[in-house]
Amino acid sequence: RKKIIITIDGWSSCGKSTVARQLAKELNYVYIDSGAMYRAITLYFLRNHIDWTDIREVREALSNIQLDFRFNEQSQQSEIFLNDENVEYVIRDLVIAEKVSEIAAIREVREYAVKQQQAMGKKKGIVMDGRDIGTVVFPDAELKIFMTADNAVRVERRFKELYAKNPNITIEEVKNNLEMRDYIDSNREVSPLRQAADALVLDNSNLTMEEQLNKALDWVSVKI
Ligand code: C5P
Repeated sequence: RKKIIITIDGWSSCGKSTVARQLAKELNYVYIDSGAMYRAITLYFLRNHIDWTDIREVREALSNIQLDFRFNEQSQQSEIFLNDENVEYVIRDLVIAEKVSEIAAIREVREYAVKQQQAMGKKKGIVMDGRDIGTVVFPDAELKIFMTADNAVRVERRFKELYAKNPNITIEEVKNNLEMRDYIDSNREVSPLRQAADALVLDNSNLTMEEQLNKALDWVSVKI
């Protein structure tokens, strides 16, 4: 069967990665979480006290960053490494989420990440989720999905995830963070979050995981 590129874009905490991961597993494709790259870059900037308003500092920092995804046999998931350190867990912290959209709006940061993302799609057979994957990274992708979900559903979902790691977190913090990221992500100058003209919309507010996957698989079946 023909191998294709599948892009999944949408608002924060819509369940993109869950669908993307399952789809990749089902099709035996590679799954790439592009947001993890922006989060890992943010982690590096914070740890190294990079002044990201200074473009020379940004360029210098990026030249010292090596990102790669490695498949973990145990968890059966691909995990991101920042300069050989597994940072898959730490990048999910709210401290990172508070700054990531600001850093992901920097042109040089996007160019750095997009170039690597495009290289990963060379052989096709890939599912990538993010904000600009169907519009900028792979504008010719065979299948583009745009995911949405009710705000309340999204806040609740992300709150549960973060609360499991840190019981001090409040629902307001999570809600404010999602609203802030969506605002910055959809209003930035460089490749803002947009639904591609040829994207199919998947609203998962009232769908079970299985229903979402089946819908996506139906869409895939007419493309391969
Ligand atoms: O997908 P996730 O929520 O982990 O992404 C974290 C942040 O990274 C987003 O809020 C957005 O600012 C940025 N991002 C992006 N472009 C992508 C993926 C993520 O700007 N393709």
